[in-house]
Amino acid sequence: MAQSTLYSRVAGTGSYLPPDRVTNQELAERLAKNGIETSDEWIVARTGIHARHFAEPDVPTSELALIASRRAIEAADIDPQSIDLIIVATSTPDYVFPSTACLLQSKLGIKSHGAAFDVQAVCSGFAYALATADSFIRGGQARTALIVGAETFSRILDFNDRTTCVLFGDGAGAVILQASEEPGVLSSALHADGSYANILCTPGNVNGGVVAGSAFLHMDGQAVFKLAVNLLEKVAVEALEKAHLSADQIDWLVPHQANIRIMQGTCRKLHLPQERMIVTVGEHGNTSAASIPLALDVAVRDGRIRRGQNVLIEGVGGGFTWGASVIRY
Ligand code: UT7
Repeated sequence: MAQSTLYSRVAGTGSYLPPDRVTNQELAERLAKNGIETSDEWIVARTGIHARHFAEPDVPTSELALIASRRAIEAADIDPQSIDLIIVATSTPDYVFPSTACLLQSKLGIKSHGAAFDVQAVCSGFAYALATADSFIRGGQARTALIVGAETFSRILDFNDRTTCVLFGDGAGAVILQASEEPGVLSSALHADGSYANILCTPGNVNGGVVAGSAFLHMDGQAVFKLAVNLLEKVAVEALEKAHLSADQIDWLVPHQANIRIMQGTCRKLHLPQERMIVTVGEHGNTSAASIPLALDVAVRDGRIRRGQNVLIEGVGGGFTWGASVIRY
């Protein structure tokens, strides 16, 4: 008897933004107290960002992940004990170890003892986590996966560096992926080039009980910008080819939300109408690994993304890393 193909399918999504919403104007006023000059006009014109959310100082990444995960579990209508794989994509984990995924497993009260681990691919983290979970499920190693992108980037921002601190925010997004005979994730493509490590990095480490080096995010914005537009187009085309789909068969592009100019550039290169792109960067800022699942959840919940539609996700970030997936929602 012929074996049916096994896919991983999105069963539910959830997200969470901490309540402290900081507008550009409010941020500009805070920075002005340190003698740093910026403006709503500059931030909107260069990035499309109007506001971002910051977690309270005592709220760790795993708490944001927990709320987003509970919402995804509820949307998928599953028993949390059936989750046999947890992957958290984050560059701002609670601890050096254990992983945020293990902390999340405990907070969710999951006793199923399936694998739980973090992936660290910065802003491409969710693309990496999704492709990894999809491989686990298609390979029969897991049946129900919780994949989370969760960040508290506010902790690694240097509020004396206006070229970076106006760009990022905190938040979490989660997806339940389940084994299914119906198509779900159709293709994925992942890449990295460590020779670009220095253009986007937080190069500190813990040594002898103190942080050695800088624990702040550093970025050569223009270098990242130029690389991002090219790499995103290439990896999107690669994922589309693997899925045997053309760009005009994509109903929704859910890109990493770093900068509206990069997102519009990718859309143009793929010849996709801008109306088919989900945009949350204006309200969320760049939430790194959380940005794609946050945007996905917003569009699922407001009814734009519907069952049977083709969704292209893509992201690029520190490492350098980049990746894309095509999903039949
Ligand atoms: O998520 C991971 C991927 N990250 C990204 O995709 C980010 C990629 N890079 C970018 O999005 C853009 O490069 C930025 C938004 C970071 C910067 O935009 P830009 O158009 O590349 O600006 P720029 O760096 O060329 O700076 C233009 C000017 C400079 O002044 P001068 O030298 O022309 O006098 C900056 O000093 O803007 C100045 N500037 C600011 N002015 C007001 C830089 N930051 C600010 C600021 N407020 N916050």
